[in-house]
Amino acid sequence: MTMPKRMVAVSWSMLLCLAAAAAVLKARAQLDSIGFISIDCGLPGTANSVDDATKLSYAPDAAFTDAGSNHNISVEYITPTLAKRYLNVRSFPDGARSCYMLRSLVPGLKYTLRAEFKYGNYDGLNRPPVFDLYAGVNFWSRVNASSQKVVVLEAIVVVPEDYVHVCLVNTGSGTPFISALELRPLKSSLYPQVNATQGLVLLSRRNFGPTDDADIVRYPDDPHDRVWLPFVNTARWEAISTSNKVRNLDDSEFAAPSKVMQTAITPRNASGRIEFFWLSEPQPGDPTPGYIVILHFSELQLLAGNAVRQQHLVLNDDLRFWSDYTPPYLLSDTIYSMKPLPRFSRYNFSINATANSTMPPIINAGEIFFVFSTANVGTDYSDVSAITAIKAKYRVKKNWARDPCVTNNLTWDGLTCSYANSNPSRITRINMSFSGLDGDISSSFANLKAIQYLDLSYNNLTGSIPDALSQLPSLLVLDLTNNQLSGSIPPSLLKRIQDGSLNIRYGNNPNLCTNAASCKPAKGRNKLAVYVAVPVVLVVVIVSALVFPFLRRKKQGSTSTNITMRPQIETMMSYAPATLPPGDAHTQSSLHLENRKFTYKELEMITNNFQRVLGRGGFGEVYNGFLEDGTQVAIKLRSQFSNQGVKEFLIEAQILTRIHHKNLVSMIGYCKDGQYMALVYEYMSEGTLQEQIAGNGRNGKLLTWKQRLRIAVDSAQGLEYLHKGCNPPLIHRDVKSTNILLNAKLEAKIADFGLSKAFNRDNEAHVSTNALVGTPGYVDPEYQTTLQPTTKNDVYSFGVVLLELVTGRQAILCDPEPTSIIQWVRRRLARGNIEAVVDKRMRGEYDVNSVWKVADIALKCTVQASTQRPTMIDVVAQLQECLELEEGHRIGDGTRGSFYSGSSNSDLNLGYNAHAADSQSTDVSQTNTPFEMEHNFGKVPRMDRGPVAR
Ligand SMILES: *[C@@H]1O[C@H](CO)[C@@H](O)[C@H](O)[C@H]1NC(C)=O
Ligand SMILES: *[C@@H]1O[C@H](CO)[C@@H](O)[C@H](O)[C@H]1NC(C)=O
Ligand SMILES: *[C@@H]1O[C@H](CO)[C@@H](O)[C@H](O)[C@H]1NC(C)=O
Ligand SMILES: *[C@@H]1O[C@H](CO)[C@@H](O)[C@H](O)[C@H]1NC(C)=O
Ligand SMILES: *[C@@H]1O[C@H](CO)[C@@H](O)[C@H](O)[C@H]1NC(C)=O
Repeated sequence: MTMPKRMVAVSWSMLLCLAAAAAVLKARAQLDSIGFISIDCGLPGTANSVDDATKLSYAPDAAFTDAGSNHNISVEYITPTLAKRYLNVRSFPDGARSCYMLRSLVPGLKYTLRAEFKYGNYDGLNRPPVFDLYAGVNFWSRVNASSQKVVVLEAIVVVPEDYVHVCLVNTGSGTPFISALELRPLKSSLYPQVNATQGLVLLSRRNFGPTDDADIVRYPDDPHDRVWLPFVNTARWEAISTSNKVRNLDDSEFAAPSKVMQTAITPRNASGRIEFFWLSEPQPGDPTPGYIVILHFSELQLLAGNAVRQQHLVLNDDLRFWSDYTPPYLLSDTIYSMKPLPRFSRYNFSINATANSTMPPIINAGEIFFVFSTANVGTDYSDVSAITAIKAKYRVKKNWARDPCVTNNLTWDGLTCSYANSNPSRITRINMSFSGLDGDISSSFANLKAIQYLDLSYNNLTGSIPDALSQLPSLLVLDLTNNQLSGSIPPSLLKRIQDGSLNIRYGNNPNLCTNAASCKPAKGRNKLAVYVAVPVVLVVVIVSALVFPFLRRKKQGSTSTNITMRPQIETMMSYAPATLPPGDAHTQSSLHLENRKFTYKELEMITNNFQRVLGRGGFGEVYNGFLEDGTQVAIKLRSQFSNQGVKEFLIEAQILTRIHHKNLVSMIGYCKDGQYMALVYEYMSEGTLQEQIAGNGRNGKLLTWKQRLRIAVDSAQGLEYLHKGCNPPLIHRDVKSTNILLNAKLEAKIADFGLSKAFNRDNEAHVSTNALVGTPGYVDPEYQTTLQPTTKNDVYSFGVVLLELVTGRQAILCDPEPTSIIQWVRRRLARGNIEAVVDKRMRGEYDVNSVWKVADIALKCTVQASTQRPTMIDVVAQLQECLELEEGHRIGDGTRGSFYSGSSNSDLNLGYNAHAADSQSTDVSQTNTPFEMEHNFGKVPRMDRGPVAR
């Protein structure tokens, strides 16, 4: 036999605690000032009804449920004493399961739930229904309504969330209805039998001793508003009572109110016993419920002398529930079972005096419950929140006020859930097609993390498609057909279409743009549109002022010329093509290219969480990525740990937004998202020119001379465009073989514009103040001394690149001392020995004239005096001649490596000779250059590889 427990309790602090709890709860919605929820179900209007007995105020139920309809009970059932809350009911003829949602609760706290049913023939059918009552998703009780009586069902449960549903389930035996619903908070220490997985359903709560049937004790005498019904049988029991307060101990587990404990019964016959019984009531799903008995005792009489009251508590004659028990004087004490009693069909309780007792037995109050499981967990909380928000947004009037999932045949219409043992149910499918939804797509859909199938077709949904939907990991089908959606399909979703993880249907949305390239940004609130509009005119002014301070500012006086404008990151990042250089077909064709603004999240997706690093640099790393249409891209992400490079990033973003040329690496978009900054470039699969020259390229093959020539022409054209195609001219300032990138066709493109500067002949003072920048081995010595950047600096650096192409060596050689490649080549060519400089790995497979000519161009580019260097226009023209020479060259036709004649091109030789003297001084000045540069430049760490591939 399960051992019952006993306790002695006095509660000084009970009321205080409760008052405090009530104060906390007061701020919350739905709860009244003492933390109660009292609902008069079926009460029309907005005014509360106040109970005459308790003075508690009962709210109309419209705010707690969205189903059912109001009815008044028939007049013949109205008596003068009938509490107001029973005069009307809410009935639920539609839907299998109808619920009230009680909110603003404290998750994990114990609550008393009380539902009251007074049929009163409200429907004129005279057929009291039978239906089921649920606490959340857990079966609580079967309701056997009665015309005459008020059926009261009470449960004590732990509420796991900050809300609880109370649901009426139609079992096919009449329409569920309800008269009143009450919720009362309990201290967690009360009713220790109740925990998260086990609740108590009240069978009976009796107060022994009152002589009046109407003497019900509840709030405020019981601060927890338990309802203590009087047990009156004056023929059998003698009532005893006291006017003294009966105290509870502070740690009382039941806190029986003094008013209840102040009365008790004792048998009229001194040798008699107190007896009571109840019959086991099989419950649906539990034919033998486990009963919990809780008996409250207190001695109310001050016993004289040797008088002793000692009693046995006996269950079904032979089970001693408790022996030799003496109730304490004016102290509330309780004997109770912690675990359910053994299962019987009838429970006979008797309390008799022990042999030593001089007084008859007494009892003050008793409660009998049966346990019920509350182990079923409701739907995942975030799912409930999301679907509740969705329901509110679209004003769904379906019968949706309850746990969305519960059991399969009682889920919300249009909802499908997954059920896993002991895990919360998850919403897996939503079908809200043909539901008359309007407005935009609720962002709450993106919180349904387990959803696989979302059908919103055939509604009037407007606005754009939230790209957050792409974050739903399980989403397989998204049906948006036949709506009024606009904007474009977010790239993140396109990517999921692309990788086959999501099937999106979006037909019959007349305003939806499905072709990214031609998508206009959606109007107004469309914050999610990805393709950023480019406000051309206005921002040009701003950008001009920032990047080209010498340009006149529109409608501003000359007084503003000295104002240093601090670049506003956002402005700079979202500006647009500025004045475009005239007459370049390429420029024209890419004029309408829009730069896309990426969010960091999108970048995460595009790069598959920055999985593959293509290169590293001072700014951070370059990552491989794939756009939603499968385009491979390189993403230069500025390291958030680096303070360096913000300016360079911005400059590069500006330049690449503004200028477009087939020989300049193109920027697809940028990201400026919080502290994250990134640039997204076209993917250049063959990496840097330096890698290719070194033979470390993708395919491991060495570049042929013809390929080198083409690369030279390409990159020269890129620089030419910067110098001549742009107005004002742009100086790259960091031309080097690692900043020339190659695509799959080995087409070369200039990259990395982070150090680039606009050049203005009219006002050079503006650019003269800049710190020396560049890369050792490539920096123009003249610029080094003057610190005045000119386009000729790029010409010089490009000359170094040409020498790298010819020789297959790096800009600074170890020969055996660190030596500039210029010095190295000049020395050898001075002896007329081209073979000594040409990359041996080409095995002579080149037109020696074209090689000689390129070497000559390179040396012209790298003469000391910048005025004597050719322009990039000249360089392009001459390189193209070389290419033509080479294309006339046939390997194995006898010209191979032997055709060189110093006189074959007198200009070239003249050129070379003319600069021979220069070369000497250049050599001298450059001897120690590498080291000086290393130490003196204070160069910002730079990306060595630029936006490279693989
Ligand atoms: C609740 O109490 C029952 C009965 O004592 C027990 O079996 C169950 O494990 C308890 N649940 C929790 C969550 O403590
Ligand atoms: C009280 O009940 C128990 C159990 O039925 C019994 O053994 C005992 O004799 C009774 N005592 C008296 C005084 O009747
Ligand atoms: C009953 O009284 C006798 C004699 O006074 C005593 O020995 C015994 O312990 C008492 N029994 C109980 C249970 O108090
Ligand atoms: C729900 O389905 C179960 C089994 O499929 C069935 O026993 C139960 O009666 C159904 N409930 C309702 C309300 O239809
Ligand atoms: C959309 O709205 C229009 C007018 O407001 C209405 O006629 C039409 O039936 C609605 N369509 C759907 C699918 O609800």
